[in-house]
Amino acid sequence: MRKTIILSNRLPVQLQINEGKMQAKPSVGGLATGMKSVHQEGESLWIGWSGLTQEEIPEDLESEIDLALEEHGCSKVRLTEAEVEGFYYGFSNRTIWPLYHYFLEYAEFELSNWKIYEAVNRKFANAVLEQASGDDILWVHDYQLMLVPQMVREERPDLSIGFFLHIPFPSYEIFRTLPWREEILKGLLGADLIGFHTYDYERHFLSSVRRVLGLEVNFNEINLEDRMAKVDSFPMGIDYAKFHEAAKKNADQKDGEQSDLQRRLYAHKASTPDAKFFLSIDRLDYSKGIAKRLKAFEYFLGKYPEYKEKVRLIILAVPSRSKVPQYQLLKKEIDELVGRINGELSTVSWTPIWYFYRSLGFENLVDLYTSCDIAWLTPIRDGMNLVAKEYIATRTDKTGVLILSEMAGSANEMHEALLINPNNFEQIADSLHRAINMPEAEQKARNTPMQKRLARYNVEKWAGDFMESLLTHKQSDPPYV
Ligand code: UDP
Ligand code: G6P
Repeated sequence: MRKTIILSNRLPVQLQINEGKMQAKPSVGGLATGMKSVHQEGESLWIGWSGLTQEEIPEDLESEIDLALEEHGCSKVRLTEAEVEGFYYGFSNRTIWPLYHYFLEYAEFELSNWKIYEAVNRKFANAVLEQASGDDILWVHDYQLMLVPQMVREERPDLSIGFFLHIPFPSYEIFRTLPWREEILKGLLGADLIGFHTYDYERHFLSSVRRVLGLEVNFNEINLEDRMAKVDSFPMGIDYAKFHEAAKKNADQKDGEQSDLQRRLYAHKASTPDAKFFLSIDRLDYSKGIAKRLKAFEYFLGKYPEYKEKVRLIILAVPSRSKVPQYQLLKKEIDELVGRINGELSTVSWTPIWYFYRSLGFENLVDLYTSCDIAWLTPIRDGMNLVAKEYIATRTDKTGVLILSEMAGSANEMHEALLINPNNFEQIADSLHRAINMPEAEQKARNTPMQKRLARYNVEKWAGDFMESLLTHKQSDPPYV
């Protein structure tokens, strides 16, 4: 039977060893949460890294781990500590991530990390080659595995190979600074179909292909020696029904059935009925603009002091890549900013910022989405930003205001949100003011079309469109030799 092999660095679960016992936690991040829904639906095998290095896995647990993953339709690629260091913390997150998010000053160009990235990509490709049979479909995900499509094609040109990039593809002027730009492009062009979240990322990619490799591009097809590679944009959706239904259930819950978090949030709302909650949820990442948001919040309270003791900012910052120095510095900066702002502005009955540095489970996320009047997301660059979509999906009575950075891919599909430039504090302060005072009728008029769009173009449709496009293109392509 034909199966789809999903290949990504992260599996849907992250394994940990605690006192000699294996524990599994759901992975965070848009790729894992989105693909999880796709994986549950169909006949697929998900290959990726378990989150543990080989050195961390006790020999006697190895087969137990493999079995547990197998039960979830997953299979792991084994990575040593040195590989994780060079491939994941190194090339993926100290070179590609900052570069593709336009943080050129953070990008490091280390030959040794590049070599490990190549070797680990080869490992992932070999894992696919071991598992692929017949006319299986391979769907490779994200910036950690950009060399895999070509590596697999060299051995199995008959497979249908798709690649999807979950982060922005930068403009040629940024991309050209990468010493290994040719190798990366050639690696990606091993795919039959290369997908991006937005047309802008697609355009940047095509321009780099033309200028770096000198290849001919016809509309959205790239002329290779023996075939065409197709490029297209597929904005990723969410599992709309899952979020919407969970929020409905939440609203119907009686006292005693609510989660602790929900009860506390409701109690606060009840004690200060005209107070407003602003919510932001992100991985603690410099691309998300968390520090700027805190400064903008302070600016807003300076410009509109009448909202002191009336508004509260809830920040959920999920720990991420904490071995990378830039992330450690950012954590320190955010800790200090929250401490300073709360220290300067708090009163006996009011703490302006509630800051949580942890990840939350699905139910608690829904509690936060449904209890907050305004979602305020200010990435400086973001491939998509699914949190914006999840917030709108949970607003079952259609109230709530979304303030979203125009630098997020999702801003392209959410025109009805209040779109802001994350660097423009004046505009942000005025948007917060506008959101607080927005009449309910206007909130509903803005959210209704967004909900309809999200319900229609959900994650299943996104994956279905990608697959259909891949298979149609593969069939129409000249037969390989
Ligand atoms: N998320 C989660 N637990 C948390 C916080 C967030 O599972 O404690 C999920 C959230 O629901 C969303 C994803 O992480 O689906 C974040 O995706 P997004 O596209 O917003 O950003 P990314 O982390 O991929 O850059
Ligand atoms: C983004 C990336 C994913 C990544 C996720 C979490 O969504 O596009 O590839 O998995 O962040 O980051 P992490 O480094 O923990 O995998």
